[in-house]
Amino acid sequence: MSGTAIGGLLDAAKYGPWAVVAGGSDGTGAWFAREIAASGINLLIIARRQGPLDAVAQEIRNDYGVEVRTLSLDLNSPDASQKMAEATKGLEVGLYVSNAGSEDGGHFFLDTPIENMRNLIARNVLTVMDACHHFGRAMRDRGRGGIILMSSGTGLGGQPGVAAYSAAKGFVLNLAESLWAELRGAGVDVIGIAAPLMDTPSLQRILGGLQLPGILAPEEVVRDTLRRLSHTPSYVYAYGEPPEESERQTKLRHDRVLAVEKLSQIFFADH
Ligand SMILES: NC(=O)c1ccc[n+]([C@@H]2O[C@H](COP(=O)([O-])OP(=O)(O)OC[C@H]3O[C@@H](n4cnc5c(N)ncnc54)[C@H](OP(=O)(O)O)[C@@H]3O)[C@@H](O)[C@H]2O)c1
Repeated sequence: MSGTAIGGLLDAAKYGPWAVVAGGSDGTGAWFAREIAASGINLLIIARRQGPLDAVAQEIRNDYGVEVRTLSLDLNSPDASQKMAEATKGLEVGLYVSNAGSEDGGHFFLDTPIENMRNLIARNVLTVMDACHHFGRAMRDRGRGGIILMSSGTGLGGQPGVAAYSAAKGFVLNLAESLWAELRGAGVDVIGIAAPLMDTPSLQRILGGLQLPGILAPEEVVRDTLRRLSHTPSYVYAYGEPPEESERQTKLRHDRVLAVEKLSQIFFADH
């Protein structure tokens, strides 16, 4: 994939000089890393396996000349965000991307080992919340920055076969929209993506050769997400529907956040 990214979608003065991509060694996360680097922003990319991390890091250094650090870390672990904080001590992180979050494959709730779901919740809920708290505070204090949280269409409502995943992705999307409203006055952009099916190694592992229509290229979703970062609290990809339906559902959620924001101003006026 070397050299195929197009660049310059982000303002490095707003979202730099460093970005953290949690789950940045393949699929969507590697594309986030490439596109962020193309805007001249340095990177810390995180994943469990060091080999793929090193390969993507070297490719990005060669292509864009930015500094790229790697961190081998299991985002399921309870101290994951603390490890992220230690690895970025002294760095100005202007952009945090929570990417890693895929489900391993669907089974009904009672037939899924509880440990698998606890790991999924740790990665998609606790680590994401902790990292938003850590990086978000520094961004708010600086008066600039961005947070991108990858959710899923399954986060829009319950879905049998992926109960814990659907619940976790609902958390991610709602967290993004809440933070968007809380931080926009401080110059920090937040977006949650109800992602479509994307052609990544994780999806291919789940599909196991099954062909499905409506699978998008991850680089396309990543570029559109970066373009939308300063415009909307969330973006909904409506599966199997024309783009107008995605826009309609996105606008409904946006309007709802604006409406409840007014309520919050009444209830929590002193905050
Ligand atoms: N692909 C889709 O069709 C689809 C559809 C809807 C939503 N989404 C959402 O979009 C996001 C990106 O999905 P994706 O398909 O690109 O795959 P993903 O499996 O969420 O992300 C893959 C990246 O995350 C790393 N990773 C996975 N588990 C990790 C862990 N426990 N600790 C640290 N790093 C970990 C992987 O490297 P290592 O394996 O080396 O750790 C790799 O770099 C996810 O949040 C997913 O839920 C995807």
